[in-house]
Amino acid sequence: MEVVRNITQDTVWVGGGDVRLALFENMFPLENGVSYNSFLISDEKTALVDTVDESVGRRFIENIKASLNGRSLDYLIINHMEPDHCANIEEICRLFPKVQIVGNKKTFQMIQQFYDMDISGRTLEVKDGDSLSLGTHTLRFIFAPMVHWPEVMFTYDDYDKILFSADAFGTFGGYTGNLFSDEVDYEEVYFNEARRYYTNIVGKYGVQVQAALKKMSAMDIRMICPLHGPILRGDGMQRILDKYALWSSYQPEERGVLLTYASMYGNTENAVQLLANLLAQNGVKNIRVYDVSKTHFSTIVADAFRFSHLVFASPTYNLRLYSAMENVIGDLAALNFQNREVSVIGNGSWAPAAGKIMVNKLSEMKDMRFIGEALEIKSALKKDQYPEMENLAKAISASVLCADENRV
Ligand SMILES: Cc1cc2nc3c(=O)[nH]c(=O)nc-3n(C[C@H](O)[C@H](O)[C@H](O)COP(=O)(O)O)c2cc1C
Ligand SMILES: [Fe+2]
Ligand SMILES: [Fe+2]
Repeated sequence: MEVVRNITQDTVWVGGGDVRLALFENMFPLENGVSYNSFLISDEKTALVDTVDESVGRRFIENIKASLNGRSLDYLIINHMEPDHCANIEEICRLFPKVQIVGNKKTFQMIQQFYDMDISGRTLEVKDGDSLSLGTHTLRFIFAPMVHWPEVMFTYDDYDKILFSADAFGTFGGYTGNLFSDEVDYEEVYFNEARRYYTNIVGKYGVQVQAALKKMSAMDIRMICPLHGPILRGDGMQRILDKYALWSSYQPEERGVLLTYASMYGNTENAVQLLANLLAQNGVKNIRVYDVSKTHFSTIVADAFRFSHLVFASPTYNLRLYSAMENVIGDLAALNFQNREVSVIGNGSWAPAAGKIMVNKLSEMKDMRFIGEALEIKSALKKDQYPEMENLAKAISASVLCADENRV
């Protein structure tokens, strides 16, 4: 049976949730699944805004049929061509042979790349800023290229003041029935996952997100409908917009230290635990310690975007970095991550190289400022290196606790 809900008088949520999915994009662990949002606007004309993943396709079709209540579908608007949202395009076209597919030039190219369907004669190509009237509702299309794919556009309903925002402002986390951000404790249930979603999926495209935010600032938006997770409105919407402004400009949310280490025999770990201990004794409150072999890189990436100070510690492995550490630092670089205070601890037993490699990799990222001297451990930390560690802890603590809060 259909599971649908009106979000305004004329617009119905017809999406679905997949709680069974273990890995989003076959890569990002999901504790509680993910939802796929889709919306049906019924006016003089009917329009469906995006479709869903194939995992919830059957329910989705049931939802649409019930919500159309015998009417036909006039328009299918495609804001994003990633398969978790467009797996049902063919089926929709089969069910509603007269439907017009609304998208931009890149949308249609991608439909042809992903699917073997004939879309000739059934496309309505829009340009940035174009409008489409459904009767009372006029839809405006606002291009948001590379947030996070090239064809991405937002659709704005100027009657209800709703922005359908593709993957922007979405989050991991399954369907809970509570469809709106102010119906749940968004902070408790979703916020960390919204950060992990943004930073890992969209994080690279800060410049493009800033451009989209700029366009949005001139608009009257009462609700944001992302393709995943709760619909945002009220204070919750503003809070996410504020966070997007920080994340997209690579500014930390708060002062604190994220210590990420690799360790085979526990000696690098021991050094990091000593450093964390000294930081805490110096009065640093926000400390996170992650073992790269234990904590998924997506969580480390999310907290790297969150905190002001980062420490990386790794043993040398065949003259390179321990590979999980290489991955994490490589991922941050690939995400265009920048503008942090960083420190490094290297370890090696006969030809230590990890410290230098990490310093080089971090130096290649934009606006990375090194705090304290890079510490070099020869197999295990010894008492005679304690002053060096103390100095490193002092330098990091002083930088974290410095009075100039404007630097966050
Ligand atoms: C497969 C392998 C390769 C390694 N390659 C190097 C190396 O190239 N240079 C070096 O100095 N140490 C190398 N090491 C030694 C470790 O970096 C060193 O023992 C380090 O102290 C381990 O720190 P941990 O106790 O935190 O695991 C290697 C160890 C292993 C297991
Ligand atoms: Fe996407
Ligand atoms: Fe998506």
